[in-house]
Amino acid sequence: MDLLENVFVLLHLLGMAAIVGSAVFVARGRSTPALLWGARAQIVSGLILVGIAEAGADPVNHAKIGVKLVVAIAVAACAEIAAAKVRKGEGERPQLVTAAGALAVLNAAIAVLWVSGS
Ligand code: HEM
Repeated sequence: MDLLENVFVLLHLLGMAAIVGSAVFVARGRSTPALLWGARAQIVSGLILVGIAEAGADPVNHAKIGVKLVVAIAVAACAEIAAAKVRKGEGERPQLVTAAGALAVLNAAIAVLWVSGS
């Protein structure tokens, strides 16, 4: 179980790297597959991590997870809309891409800094 959990933590961190790396550092305002798939992957890998923690009877801070889920859905919404605009030939939406990157950084901060409670 520990190895499985660690593998999903790794995937979770790679998903974050894809979003923040693409939106903030590499493509700066351009929609990329890395941003879109990273945003989708965070929701899936995050929910799997919650499932693994619950199954292993590790304490789960439900308020924190709830907030992270809402923020992650907002990240995915920004990424999906920006990608859809490009697909339809309506041009880039740099503000949405930047918002997705900034919200992902916010979620990383929540993950690391929100330590109290269970
Ligand atoms: C953009 C979205 C997200 C980002 C950037 C993000 C980022 C992070 C980071 C940086 C960690 C810390 C890993 C560590 O300390 O080892 C983490 C852990 C975690 N995240 Fe997320 N997260 C996101 C979305 C979610 C979602 C949607 C959920 C669940 C619904 C979730 C559930 C978890 C759990 C359960 C852990 C603890 C893993 C562990 O250390 O055992 N995350 N996340």
